[in-house]
Amino acid sequence: MKINFAELAHPTVDKAVIYLVGEDKKLSEEAQGLDKKANGLLSKAIANSNFTGKRGQYLSVNLAQGARADFAILAGIGAAKTIDATVLENIGGGVVPKLNSLRAVSASLVIEGAKIGAIAATEAAARIAHGAYLRSYNFDKYFTKKTVDEKPTLKSFTVTLTGAKNAVKSYADLSALAEGVVFTRNLVSEPANIINPETLAEQCKTLEKLGVDVEILGEEEMYKLGFGALLGVGQGSAIESQLVVMKWNGLGKNSKVAPVAFVGKGVTFDTGGISIKPAGGMEEMKWDMGGAGVVIGLMKALAGRNAKINAVGVVGLVENMPSGNAQRPGDVVTSYSGQTIEVLNTDAEGRLVLADALWYTQKHFKPKFIVDLATLTGAIIVALGTSRAGLFSNNDKLAEQIFTTGKKVGEEVWRLPLAEVYDKQINSDIADMQNIGKDREAGSITAAQFLQRFVNDVPWAHLDIAGVAWSKKDRDITPKGGTGYGVRLLNQLIADYYE
Ligand code: BES
Ligand code: MN
Ligand code: ZN
Repeated sequence: MKINFAELAHPTVDKAVIYLVGEDKKLSEEAQGLDKKANGLLSKAIANSNFTGKRGQYLSVNLAQGARADFAILAGIGAAKTIDATVLENIGGGVVPKLNSLRAVSASLVIEGAKIGAIAATEAAARIAHGAYLRSYNFDKYFTKKTVDEKPTLKSFTVTLTGAKNAVKSYADLSALAEGVVFTRNLVSEPANIINPETLAEQCKTLEKLGVDVEILGEEEMYKLGFGALLGVGQGSAIESQLVVMKWNGLGKNSKVAPVAFVGKGVTFDTGGISIKPAGGMEEMKWDMGGAGVVIGLMKALAGRNAKINAVGVVGLVENMPSGNAQRPGDVVTSYSGQTIEVLNTDAEGRLVLADALWYTQKHFKPKFIVDLATLTGAIIVALGTSRAGLFSNNDKLAEQIFTTGKKVGEEVWRLPLAEVYDKQINSDIADMQNIGKDREAGSITAAQFLQRFVNDVPWAHLDIAGVAWSKKDRDITPKGGTGYGVRLLNQLIADYYE
């Protein structure tokens, strides 16, 4: 979808025009003008409906011929004093399905200062556009028979305000961010016969044209380094495992400033391996590379907006398959850190991949911090559902920053504990540790304890995104499917605290 900004003084002609209406139900100046020309259709519609101007409410009004548009949509914006960036993004997102159901190809939304509280009109315009763009995302490349009538119509969305030029500027960084989110969503949505460790590594390579340095380690190189944990997971697959290292040096090519680091679980399909999963729902495990997807999309966003930060992204890419070469329950592997692991369940594979990727990241980059993202445990969905990721950290300050940023951008997290009692659960009878707890208790925490054994005291946070990487229903700025959850959160974390 194309996003435009236009001057209020030069309104465009569209299928639909959207006005913001607060809880006082008063029409803005522009809307009043239209109301007059349309013989009071707008005010009558408000009077004859249960529209109260609350957020999430929309009222569409069929206009008479010759009016500026065929339809006007009144969008509830609630109390002016509580409007923030997220509220505006959600309104932008919320109008998209309304416009598609009116079969609108183009639409414009009118911003007038009185309706948006303390926020500058240019910033409000950019946020609304951002929300609309993210909601209009649609992964439809595999439909060959859908007719025009069955597809969404909206192709162009214009925000009209005073100061359109400045809105274009405010929108530039958000547009780069959105392209990062879209990249993540695309990667997560692709089926596992298209996105596998090798093709996903190729996708990382495409970031080179934005100035990201991309290095790929194949199985031979990882074998030489001693990546026994990661390689064990991939050994049943016909496709080679990969470790991709992406570097964005926003502080200058030769800058020696310590980077911030992001590590992602990239299991392009998780059958469970020999500890095989039940057939029902197994197709969902195509998005078990969601953590890697976020790291890749984040690197794209940082490069796209030319972020003043040194950042590295490391993704461990493997396919977890059962085969004659697959790892067996009970196998003992030696990780890159030198620590040995008894693999009691081949379906607890994400932590094995991350073990080597985390150790590599802390050792080679001495980063300011590491944040890892992984669709790591079903247990986190039991604990937190699908609205919050699980947060684990060895550093209160980093944890607090992530929590605060999550609230701010609407990608929330909830912190769970790490402690000696949980750590003990993964001691093994035959090796330094085992890859599952002694019983099923606290499954997400024992998984995080496992990861902590590979971060070597670097400030670190682990986000278990199993509940949030994919959505079964449409949300404000996120259509159902791959969400890209985490890209906006981590981009904002950098912008607010590290840039
Ligand atoms: N990828 C799964 C976790 C998962 C489950 C993600 C559902 C998204 C939705 C992970 O590799 C896994 O299989 N975890 C096991 C761990 C268990 C064997 C200790 C789980 O959660 O059941
Ligand atoms: Mn698994
Ligand atoms: Zn998995």
